[in-house]
Amino acid sequence: MQIKPSIRSNIFTNSHPLGCEAYIQSLFREAKQFSSFEGPKNVLIIGGSSGYGLSSRITLAVNALANTWNVSFESRPKGERTGSAGWWNNIYFQQEADKLGTFHKDFVGDAFSQTMKESVIDDLKKRSVKIDLIIYSLAAGARSHPVTGELVRSTLKAIGDPVQGKTIDIAERAVKELTVAAASEQEIADTVFVMGGSDWEDWVRQLTDADVLNHGIKAISYTYIGSKNNAKIYREGTIGRAKDDLEKHGKSIDTFLKNRLHGEGLISVSKAVVTKASVFIPRIPFYVSAMFEVMKKHGVHETITAHKHRLFADMVYGNKRLLDDQGRIRIDHYEMQDNIQKDIQALSDKHENESIFSLAGTQQFIDEFYQINGFNIPGVDYETDVDLDQLALKEPR
Ligand code: NAI
Repeated sequence: MQIKPSIRSNIFTNSHPLGCEAYIQSLFREAKQFSSFEGPKNVLIIGGSSGYGLSSRITLAVNALANTWNVSFESRPKGERTGSAGWWNNIYFQQEADKLGTFHKDFVGDAFSQTMKESVIDDLKKRSVKIDLIIYSLAAGARSHPVTGELVRSTLKAIGDPVQGKTIDIAERAVKELTVAAASEQEIADTVFVMGGSDWEDWVRQLTDADVLNHGIKAISYTYIGSKNNAKIYREGTIGRAKDDLEKHGKSIDTFLKNRLHGEGLISVSKAVVTKASVFIPRIPFYVSAMFEVMKKHGVHETITAHKHRLFADMVYGNKRLLDDQGRIRIDHYEMQDNIQKDIQALSDKHENESIFSLAGTQQFIDEFYQINGFNIPGVDYETDVDLDQLALKEPR
């Protein structure tokens, strides 16, 4: 069958396996251009099938020759359903990483569950492996409550008053007015429960108690601050409250790991990039399109893989760590420069209409959105019939 892009409300409902293969190969080719660095030997990534978790996994595998364990929640192909991009990313990550001669393992299932934590611990014990770095890079819409079993959902809402704004509808290639409703106290608490830091801390404590972490262990998670351009929906909204909570747990993980294993807990404030999770956030498509345009003009644009390579090579394992007054790593410093933010604001004010589509930055934003789902990749023949039944025989290991 031929697979054509299918998008609803800025979410891809399908993926292209051959495109995902080509995409993963391009990320490996890119990482091979970067410098090697002395890093961790064994890395556990929670949320490593796409976005920041995937780019972290690739640069650590390629540039530090790390072995990796990855937990992700992805859907397999079934009948006419193509499976999610992350499903194929896991498979093709392993295909490329096998050439490095290192070890890589995938767990597909719910990272929030106790069963998953126990499966990972059992595997590490069985192999007598101790982890040197834990990356917590989940972006989830829901989490089962461990006691009641109830499914708790996160929301992307404003806090206080509703917010008016504009965003890009990618499928319709249109600028849309949006009203982001104000969240209730319950919705705020639920978003903190799903996207905050309590599950990260559970992972760290359980892995420590199970004695599967090395002395000097580092645990890192990714937050976002952004600017007044997107503050009302991001940092001052429900997701911002969850990030406050993530950062708070980062501090308590830091204290815990220092005491138990002379390790550290780290928060990296990362830059805005195009991922499945970020494109779905109202306003962010507009912001990222203008940001691409401006950062390219100023010569400080970085790809997602380059960004994570710099994070680990320079700031986590290197000696160029930039910290703010709250102890967070500020790898987002280019995005946050005053001149960059001023230009992003001016550009997005000027193009709060269909003219946003005339910007090269918007075209790049749209291209990347297709590419992370395996579409519009140069060199892939999309007229070719894809034998999904045959491809479905592949499993991540
Ligand atoms: P993404 O959607 O590309 O990746 C999310 C990952 O979480 C995937 O591997 C997915 O399989 C996994 N996942 C979701 N629910 C799961 C579950 N129940 N069990 C196991 N795995 C599950 O998202 P992205 O954007 O890479 O986000 C990762 C982190 O980076 C988030 O904390 C996000 O807030 C943060 N971040 C993202 C920025 C961006 O611009 N994309 C900017 C700064 C921080």
